[in-house]
Parts: sequence; C-alpha cells; structure tokens
Amino acid sequence: MALLEIKKAGDPVLKKICAPVDKIDKRLRKFLDDMAETMYKHEGVGIAAPQVGIPIRAIVVDVGKKRFDIINPVITERVGTIVDSEGCLSFPGVYGEVERAEKVRVEYMNRYGKRKFIEAEGLLARCLQHEVDHLDGHLFIEVAKNITAEKKNRSDNE
Ligand code: CO
Repeated sequence: MALLEIKKAGDPVLKKICAPVDKIDKRLRKFLDDMAETMYKHEGVGIAAPQVGIPIRAIVVDVGKKRFDIINPVITERVGTIVDSEGCLSFPGVYGEVERAEKVRVEYMNRYGKRKFIEAEGLLARCLQHEVDHLDGHLFIEVAKNITAEKKNRSDNE
C-alpha cells in the first residue's frame, strides 16, 4: 500500500463531477487500499477519490466498525434531517454544522463488482452523504454553518 497526497481546499479536482467507474480490477482494488491507508493515517472516517486527485466515483468509509469500499454509490432513500458537526480531510482543522438526512440507503458496488446496499444512520449516514457529495464536486464548507477553524499553534508557524 502507499500513502496518497490529499488535495486541499482550492484544488480544482475537488470541484469536478467524477466519472463512473467502469472497470473493477486489481488496479482499482490497490487504489482503494491506498485511499484507505491515507484515510487512516490522517484519522479520517471517509475519503473520496477526488480528494487524492482521481475524479472517479469511489469512496472508502470506516466510522469504526467496518471498512466499506464503495463504487458508483447512489443514495436511493433519505429519511429525516439532522444537524451535526463535520470536518473534511481536504480542510484540515475546519469544522462546521451541516444539515443531512438522518437515515440513508446507499446502493453501490463493492471492490469485487458485487451489487450491495447499506442502510445507515448516525455518523455512518452523515459520512456517506459527505463522501457522495465529493463525487459531484460539492464540499461541506459550501453548506456548513457556524464554521470554526483551529488556530495554528506557535510551532506550526515556525
Ligand atoms: Co470531505
């Protein structure tokens, strides 16, 4: 596995509408493993392919129980709304409150091309919506309220 570079705020790749994945092969699985390694290294709970510079419809999510490798996801149901705090690996130290559906159903293909679905609530539902947004070039910062940014400490400035 290999660590990938995370694209930060202002990089045009973050604004792209990503292309569907049409070939699920070893090369894609290696890429998903690299995305996962990069996400864990930065203590994220989700990462989308455009965040590492590849505008394809693939995300990896792990909110602590299980890692999901998700290809060509579609949110097919949204129930309720809930506001909670969110961050993003492309906006380190920045947090904001975002309204999301409380529960979602997501249909997708797994890393072997098998059709799957997830019915999620709580952090997993929030994370799925955040990552699927990335695939359409939507960033949480555009809809977040009460945005806060951690102040850099002295050592960061030196
Ligand atoms: Co993000």
